Amino acid sequence: MSLGANSIGKEFVVTCFGESHGRCVGAVIDGCPAGLPLAEEDIQKALDKRLPPNRELVSARREKDTVEVLSGIYEGFTTGAPICALVWNKQVVSGDYDSIKYKPRPGHADYPARMKYVGFNDYRGGGRFSGRITVAFVIAGAVAKKLLDVFGVEVLAYTTAIGDVELHATLSLDEVRENTYANSVRCPDPDVAEEMEETILRAKKEGDSVGGIVECVAFNLPVGVGEPIFDSLDADIAKMLFDVPAVKGVEFGVGFEAAKMRGSENNDPYGMCDDEIELLSNNAGGVLGGLSSGAPLVVRVAVKPTSSISKEQKTVDLSKMEDATIQVQGRHDPCIVPKAVPVVEASVATVLVDQLLRGGFIPKVLGVEAIGEYYGVKEED
Ligand SMILES: Cc1cc2nc3c(=O)[nH]c(=O)nc-3n(C[C@H](O)[C@H](O)[C@H](O)COP(=O)(O)O)c2cc1C
Repeated sequence: MSLGANSIGKEFVVTCFGESHGRCVGAVIDGCPAGLPLAEEDIQKALDKRLPPNRELVSARREKDTVEVLSGIYEGFTTGAPICALVWNKQVVSGDYDSIKYKPRPGHADYPARMKYVGFNDYRGGGRFSGRITVAFVIAGAVAKKLLDVFGVEVLAYTTAIGDVELHATLSLDEVRENTYANSVRCPDPDVAEEMEETILRAKKEGDSVGGIVECVAFNLPVGVGEPIFDSLDADIAKMLFDVPAVKGVEFGVGFEAAKMRGSENNDPYGMCDDEIELLSNNAGGVLGGLSSGAPLVVRVAVKPTSSISKEQKTVDLSKMEDATIQVQGRHDPCIVPKAVPVVEASVATVLVDQLLRGGFIPKVLGVEAIGEYYGVKEED
């Protein structure tokens, strides 16, 4: 029995490796076009976004996550060969997990993983099921985002809810770009962000945790991206988002609200604007029939409250086969949402690149037409 599947994508293939308390976590990205300007710093910047500045809001395990790129880049450009990048795990304290070896933590993968791999899986820190594996998602997303930049596609994720505190205001794109990473909860409205922080700290004080919602938007996608029937744009995005640990719901546009609407309310009508066809509303969230519609892609994910809580919970002792209780010790995020924001952004960017490559919207090798235009380089330069 192997611990798989560990790869995603058909043309932009991302393989993720490593465990929470193993030596490292990282990704191999196969299929990135040659000729993309890429530096370790591009990936580092993305990884740094996983660490909210307010230490009270996240696990006491604060890995620096300094990236090392082992292959696939030469003289500042991708070569077309697999890109392998990793970070070393430095702050491993496995003793924290001795108590849970035979006591599966409620809300974690401990019990089903132990049954499936008959005890051979590395359970320390959640092993392969840890949020730490999302370092690989962010590495892949950083490469994907660099590529999307060249083609003018922008992907932005931000927090819209923590517990019962919700972001209601419609903010401008500039506000989202400027404010999201200016606070520790990654919410683009500073006042709402403050309330969200308080909500997390309150739950933490009570030995508990909270969940929330992350929204992600993508602009400037060409019309027709997606490979129906089984690799529809929304299906592929939903799949990768559900691969992010703790994600419990994914919806596009108005999502579940569509079930309560009439067709006349839910349909997005068309109109002409400066000789271009435009959608006059975006209830569908930018996807129709599994293809991008030309409207911005809008997807939201529901993130559950962190399972590891210091409140006492019921479990069983597998060594004695009797009822037991557990208070989860160790270093845990009282809310996963702030760290999940860059992970959601990375996941959407990764799927978009795979789909754009499959649809022939991005060439396999970037010529001067693509990067030259982006960097203002003329062919004769
Ligand atoms: C970035 C990130 C960080 C996470 N940190 C924690 C954590 O500190 N404690 C915890 O109990 N779960 C954490 N999780 C979630 C667990 O890994 C996840 O809930 C668990 O593996 C069970 O999987 P499921 O919730 O998808 O069913 C994190 C998830 C992500 C994406």
